[in-house]
Amino acid sequence: MSRRQSGKPLWTAVDQYLGDLFAAHDEHLEAALKANRKAGLPAIDVSPLQGKFLQFLIHVTQAKRVLEIGLLGGYSTMWMARALPRGGRIVSLEFSQRHADVASANLKRAGLLKKVDIRVGPALENLPLLAKERGGKFDLIFIDADKDNNPHYLEWAIKLARRGSIIVVDNVARHGQIIEAKNPAGDIQGTRRCLKLMASDPRLSAFAMQTVGLKGLDGFAAAVVIR
Ligand code: SAH
Ligand code: DHB
Ligand code: MG
Repeated sequence: MSRRQSGKPLWTAVDQYLGDLFAAHDEHLEAALKANRKAGLPAIDVSPLQGKFLQFLIHVTQAKRVLEIGLLGGYSTMWMARALPRGGRIVSLEFSQRHADVASANLKRAGLLKKVDIRVGPALENLPLLAKERGGKFDLIFIDADKDNNPHYLEWAIKLARRGSIIVVDNVARHGQIIEAKNPAGDIQGTRRCLKLMASDPRLSAFAMQTVGLKGLDGFAAAVVIR
């Protein structure tokens, strides 16, 4: 069996095949990705199947309150917002006003903006404010921003969760660099520390899974709060 098809790794074609089957784009998802690229946003949106997986988690848990750390152009947000029950809401934290503007336009076009509450600024400034608001605990928290701060985001996620809430952390393999204990890069160190906390915190039952696909070798970690 050939490993490559027309110069692409075989897993790219497999991800394409599975994505076309299970996570086909409609006009709004397509328009969002197009707008993100046109605006020069980095092409680091979740893949279609990863978006569908987040949607799956929301259906399984019947999540009504979702927290996303890292909005970008709102592509992952769109997948999740579509799975929310009536009255469900996503709070999404984003550092960049420009990214938030692109995301707002994408969500508005898709009729989803009313389900999303975008907070612009450094997430570590908005997380304590969210905790003070007493809007209720979050059922699902998706951590997908600057990886250097992943240990802090995990701590806040646990604070903002209840027993049974799910925490998902994106990008935990980083093309394999995650195994480089001495790699000084902040994103690698931040994610390694976060994974260690997730694996050892008695309040969590957690796992991590590496993935290959449209975005190369990467992975995600997930935890359920058990106490
Ligand atoms: N979840 C998105 C991708 C997020 S990319 C999707 O799959 O579609 C990461 C985002 O985190 C970027 O938009 C970046 O601007 C944002 N970010 C980086 N540092 C941040 C910080 N300190 N606080 C909040 N957002 C931050
Ligand atoms: C990067 C960030 C992401 O959230 C992602 O899914 C892929 C790559 C990055 O910063 O390189
Ligand atoms: Mg990501």
